[in-house]
Amino acid sequence: MEETDAPLRHELSDWCGSGGTGEFPYDGVIDRLRAVGKHFLGEELLLLLAECRTVFSESFKSSESSESSESSEAGSSSREDIRDPFVGPFLDVLLDKFDDRYDYPSYTALALLRRDAPGSRSGWEELRRHRDRTVLMLLADLIRFERLVLDGTPRDPQGMLPAGPLLNKRLRLATRVMEPAALRVLDGAVDPVTVAATPGRTPAGELADTVLATATAGERRVLRTSLQPVYVLHDEYLFLRVLQSFEATFSFMSATLDEAVRTLRGEQPGEAATLIAAVADVLRESLPLFSLLATMQPESFQLFRQFTDGASAIQSEGYKTFESYCSTPAQARLDSSAFLSVPDVRSEVLAGRETVQGTWEDVISSGWLPERDAAAVRAAALQLEAVHQRWKQTHYRLAVRMIGTRTGTGSTEGVPYLASVISQRLFPAMEQQPAVG
Ligand code: HEM
Repeated sequence: MEETDAPLRHELSDWCGSGGTGEFPYDGVIDRLRAVGKHFLGEELLLLLAECRTVFSESFKSSESSESSESSEAGSSSREDIRDPFVGPFLDVLLDKFDDRYDYPSYTALALLRRDAPGSRSGWEELRRHRDRTVLMLLADLIRFERLVLDGTPRDPQGMLPAGPLLNKRLRLATRVMEPAALRVLDGAVDPVTVAATPGRTPAGELADTVLATATAGERRVLRTSLQPVYVLHDEYLFLRVLQSFEATFSFMSATLDEAVRTLRGEQPGEAATLIAAVADVLRESLPLFSLLATMQPESFQLFRQFTDGASAIQSEGYKTFESYCSTPAQARLDSSAFLSVPDVRSEVLAGRETVQGTWEDVISSGWLPERDAAAVRAAALQLEAVHQRWKQTHYRLAVRMIGTRTGTGSTEGVPYLASVISQRLFPAMEQQPAVG
């Protein structure tokens, strides 16, 4: 095994020897990782990668400080001196198990995927554009990967390849999630009439090629480096791309609900209804991601999840942030593993995060929110509630199918935990109360 690493180790040693300048051998490292799984990378290779990271971070720091002191001297650094700032975060994700820091954010490479995200205070339409584009890229990449199997040229990871009919179903379901996003951000890529009549019928290969043709070099690198399976089974690719698509969606939802809270306090509070409805729509459009993931072979999942222990979406900060922008979670939930697994989000909630429900109640009692607007905001919130209930039920059914009575990788008892959260509500007061007091 270690022998096969030898050419890559030479390449890395050269790169290290140059003080971390020039092009990092991403392709070689990723190819090796996808051939054996992150959990099984050889010790010598890991030690060398860790050494490269140290060399890189030291030389990066010193190049930054010399650049700032020489910033007035034009052209002071040559091309060979340029250090690629992506290397550090990439190696942090790659070495998470080696460093004993492995968790859900590093498994899903969120730090790499979020590098070029717009600030959370950008307007909701820009945030939705970014979410749409990210989901399109992730799923187009998945389609390309699955089509290689259909064409008889599978790439790693390629253990336990699914049969053709299952792969074709996968392509249709991926397309179904992509269509609404493509209608918004990719002029002419899909036909709105066909989509309305029969969702998921856009030819998957053509759509994926159209999306990938618009990718910048930076986006192509993010796509390639953000897929770091722990093992060698083909279906883990699907699992990671689905998790990442949901994460892109949760980021949009969180930032837009934050904007909705500010809108409720602003000059046109009724406009918050549009934002909350947009959040509900995007979550609804994302539901077929679960059907897509249901095409994962349970036997495959049960094998590779042995090596994902310690990484569970219960650690998803995006999901808990979105939830806690709706209303303040009950103390029992804040003190359960639901929020103890996301300590930073929990602290923000305890510090008094403003929520949609709390602000809605406030502005109604202060007389700031006209009756019609209060009703519109409540209606949008209840739409979101209904979609979220469907999200939880579908997630629960998927978990039953995939793990049955096994415990979760986030140290809960598994399915019983998911059953227990279904009764919880995002907007308990809005559900119980009439629109205006
Ligand atoms: C094979 C598919 C899946 C299975 C078997 C599964 C299983 C579970 C289990 C057992 C838990 C409880 C925590 C634990 O011990 O791990 C959990 C929590 C959670 N999962 Fe999944 N899950 C799956 C797919 C997904 C996907 C695609 C997402 C989307 C990001 C997701 C999001 C979540 C979230 C947000 C929680 C925390 C829920 C809460 O605390 O209320 N899961 N999942």
